[in-house]
Amino acid sequence: MDKGVKKLRVGIVGCGRISVMHLESIRSFSDVELICCCDVKKERADAVSEKYGCKAYYDYEEMFKAEKLDAVHILLPHYLHAKVSICAFLHGINVLSEKPMDVDYESAALAVRKAKENGVLYGVVFQCRFNNSARLVKSAVESGKLGKVLSASSVLTWARPDSYYLESDWKGTWDKEGGGVIIDQAIHSIDLVRWIIDSDVESVSVSMANRGHSIVKVEDSAEGLITFKNGARYGFYCMNNFATDEPIEIKLVCENGKAVMSYDDAYIYYNDGKKEEAHQDENPHIDGGKDYWGFQHVREIRQFYDAILCKEPLKISGEEALKTHALIMELYDKGGMKK
Ligand SMILES: NC(=O)c1ccc[n+]([C@@H]2O[C@H](COP(=O)([O-])OP(=O)(O)OC[C@H]3O[C@@H](n4cnc5c(N)ncnc54)[C@H](O)[C@@H]3O)[C@@H](O)[C@H]2O)c1
Repeated sequence: MDKGVKKLRVGIVGCGRISVMHLESIRSFSDVELICCCDVKKERADAVSEKYGCKAYYDYEEMFKAEKLDAVHILLPHYLHAKVSICAFLHGINVLSEKPMDVDYESAALAVRKAKENGVLYGVVFQCRFNNSARLVKSAVESGKLGKVLSASSVLTWARPDSYYLESDWKGTWDKEGGGVIIDQAIHSIDLVRWIIDSDVESVSVSMANRGHSIVKVEDSAEGLITFKNGARYGFYCMNNFATDEPIEIKLVCENGKAVMSYDDAYIYYNDGKKEEAHQDENPHIDGGKDYWGFQHVREIRQFYDAILCKEPLKISGEEALKTHALIMELYDKGGMKK
């Protein structure tokens, strides 16, 4: 960055588990400065303040009022995402919110509207779209090389033991998390497939249950069929009662070939015998980061800042993320467990 050019002033709200991915990404950019952090749990905000050399706040509105921020990262329990994002928009601050947009459709749609009214950017984290594997398959479909997607499938088998829910004061609750394995874990694979197929949803058929977590009421397993207006049929299965966090498996059967994605590897087998593949770059080790989340937070966060700096349009805007959010909400509407 040129000498004398002002750095972007940024803050984070929520200093929990995911914050390390955002903090380390911010730290790696020379044109962005972490000014402040906020958490209602004082010790968490203080720890980030000390480690990253920024000011600690315990009330996000006070932070938005006091600091002239260019952007804030929202890393909160799901039910607070739209509310706190809207508060930031009203202070003229660009927002990058962790997934999901919220626990219902209306709050998410309102946030999209409020960002627009206040002339600020609203980005939503779906970092898996920045994986090399996802990029390869998306471009092979978008360019027409693979032809139309006929069918897709995704399988997620992860481990969220009782201790995961016991340690949290919001996970595993309908009002604060908004669901279980779909809204928290499978949302990434469902988003990837929906984004690659890129067509409106025609119909949704789903069944969900809590089969192995007696301490919470939300679903820990689900399977369903989503059909799209362009004719593509997508079957998914997810459960978070597995022994380990296995790589997500995604398959796409297309007119001109098949794509198989696992973790950050993708293989495309064209009907004419040609083959293409993509793999993960060297794993950037981040203490506290989890490789099965995907390590592309840094790419999405960089893209968000490039959009603020008017270098390119925002890739995963609120409007774009709302398409996946609407689908996730429809799965819960049809699933019959959410009251
Ligand atoms: N993109 C991914 O792959 C990925 C992975 C993990 C988590 N996440 C998302 O990140 C978000 C946070 O998840 P987490 O696991 O870090 O949760 P967490 O519970 O560890 O952290 C949330 C933090 O928010 C704080 N908080 C709650 N209410 C607050 C308020 N009013 N003001 C300020 N702080 C408040 C809590 O004290 C806590 O420290 C969720 O949306 C989650 O789905 C995304």
